[in-house]
Amino acid sequence: MSIDLDPCSNRGNHTKAKRTFTRKDDALSKQWKGNVFMNPPYGKGMRDWIHKLISEHQAGRVPQAIALVPARTNARWFQELAKAADAVCFPQGGLRFINGKTHKEAKPAMFPSALFYLGPDPQQFQDVFSDLGCILSGSDKQASYAIASLKFNGEAA
Ligand SMILES: C[S@@+](CC[C@H](N)C(=O)[O-])C[C@H]1O[C@@H](n2cnc3c(N)ncnc32)[C@H](O)[C@@H]1O
Repeated sequence: MSIDLDPCSNRGNHTKAKRTFTRKDDALSKQWKGNVFMNPPYGKGMRDWIHKLISEHQAGRVPQAIALVPARTNARWFQELAKAADAVCFPQGGLRFINGKTHKEAKPAMFPSALFYLGPDPQQFQDVFSDLGCILSGSDKQASYAIASLKFNGEAA
């Protein structure tokens, strides 16, 4: 999947997206187009970002999307995204994020993450991300994502 738009970008454009929005543009007020990789700010506004992503996808403007979010399985926005998504990956261990200011890789994050896929090709998502951790997709997703996440939390060192 090409990344046509990173709606939550910074000066480094680490995702190498063809188009980016930054805080200055305020991506929530813009129309999105093309395949999206979204790693939103992990603050209070999470629900707004998730609603925006789901509505742009359902409107057909964003055919495929990947959302990297903290695995807060009990949050309402997480549950809404899990219902709307076609697959999810629960990475094993903490992800190493690139610092937006220094552009250097940080130490592994202490919190669990989840990568959600919205689109018609969950198999391709699985092929690319299965090395990172457990994948749930299709009909098994909604029934078991919570169980898988609990397992993941139990195994994380
Ligand atoms: C978690 S970082 C992700 C950075 C980058 N996309 C990545 O994956 O490495 C979230 C980014 O969203 C930006 N941001 C915050 N509010 C925004 C807004 N209203 N519109 C667009 N970007 C915003 C922040 O400046 C920050 O760079």
